[in-house]
Amino acid sequence: MKPVKVGLLGLGTVGGGTVNVLRRNAEEITRRAGRGIVISHAAARSLDKPRLCDTTGIRLTTDPNEVVDDPGVDVVVELIGGYDLARELVLRAIANGKHVVTANKALIAKYGNEIFAAASRQGVVVAFEAAVAGGIPIIKAIREGLAGNRIEWLAGIINGTGNFILTEMRDKGREFADVLAEAQRFGYAEADPTFDVEGIDAAHKLTILASIAFGIPLQFEHAYTEGITRITPTDVTYAEQLGYRIKHLGMARRVESGIELRVHPTLIPERRLIANVDGVMNAVLVQGDAVGPTLYYGAGAGAEATASAVVADLVDVVRVLTTDPNNRVPHLAFQADALSDLPI
Ligand code: NDP
Ligand code: HSE
Repeated sequence: MKPVKVGLLGLGTVGGGTVNVLRRNAEEITRRAGRGIVISHAAARSLDKPRLCDTTGIRLTTDPNEVVDDPGVDVVVELIGGYDLARELVLRAIANGKHVVTANKALIAKYGNEIFAAASRQGVVVAFEAAVAGGIPIIKAIREGLAGNRIEWLAGIINGTGNFILTEMRDKGREFADVLAEAQRFGYAEADPTFDVEGIDAAHKLTILASIAFGIPLQFEHAYTEGITRITPTDVTYAEQLGYRIKHLGMARRVESGIELRVHPTLIPERRLIANVDGVMNAVLVQGDAVGPTLYYGAGAGAEATASAVVADLVDVVRVLTTDPNNRVPHLAFQADALSDLPI
């Protein structure tokens, strides 16, 4: 069978990692997917920048529409980031009948309802595992692994940059700005790092998790959002002296009036597992009525950790293309006509 052709939008941290993982593990990935997966086209702003990956054999362009409109591209992988251009490109890819994989939580949290409706009308898949908690397969865990449960609450460290900053401040007494600059050099931070440090990125991710866990539409604007910019090294030291760690958490739970979504710094007793999740690592606790508490841990950002989730989605999409094109996973775990109107 002919390999599936992928058009990549973005060749930065995650784009570069995706090319490398797909090439290095091509044999295993082909065996899992049932067909080869090749990146045929890629778009970036500059064609001259040094890249994390070798781009030999990939048709490069600075015009992302060329990729989205190319009839030879079966699946579009959106790794440009941001809201509006990404929305335009993804809707155009869907209108062209292409399946989409994205790591863009901002896009899904803000425009996911519109995008999933368009994808359902067009009969294509939009997959977004990499949008939450980097390499941790948390979307699949909640959507598939916990599908028999009534989810009661979930809480977690879902921004790697913020956790890296808090860890370095505590362990090495480093300055906030200095650690943030390092997170940017490592490729962990968002293009606009205020999204990381003001809690917006975590609120995007929490919105997506809540939607999947509780079967509600995406409602990013209803999340209470507070970042870590006001935390000082003195706060971190005092917390430590009292036997606590400061962690930036996203929490979603059922309350009497509906669902509560909160993102803010939290004091956690140091003996708790989640208090010991350090650096760029993320962890998400999910409480189901049948299974009880479950904990998911792994790298929350970075080129190949995130590519791991992007490639897993590609394998899912290729399985759908190859086996039963009608057997689609509902985007938000609950069928689109079965979303509840619980208020947030
Ligand atoms: P980068 O900034 O490293 O890469 C963005 C890429 O998009 C670059 O290659 C850039 O081109 C390209 N690009 C931007 N604008 C345009 C445009 N107008 N036309 C063509 N190409 C364009 O971002 P990341 O790889 O870090 O992030 C990508 C997505 O993945 C984001 O949505 C992010 O939130 C998400 N994500 C990131 C993670 C991480 O650890 N970094 C983890 C999980 C999700 P050029 O290189 O030439 O500038
Ligand atoms: N900027 C994000 C973070 C990337 O630091 O968690 C992963 O979503």
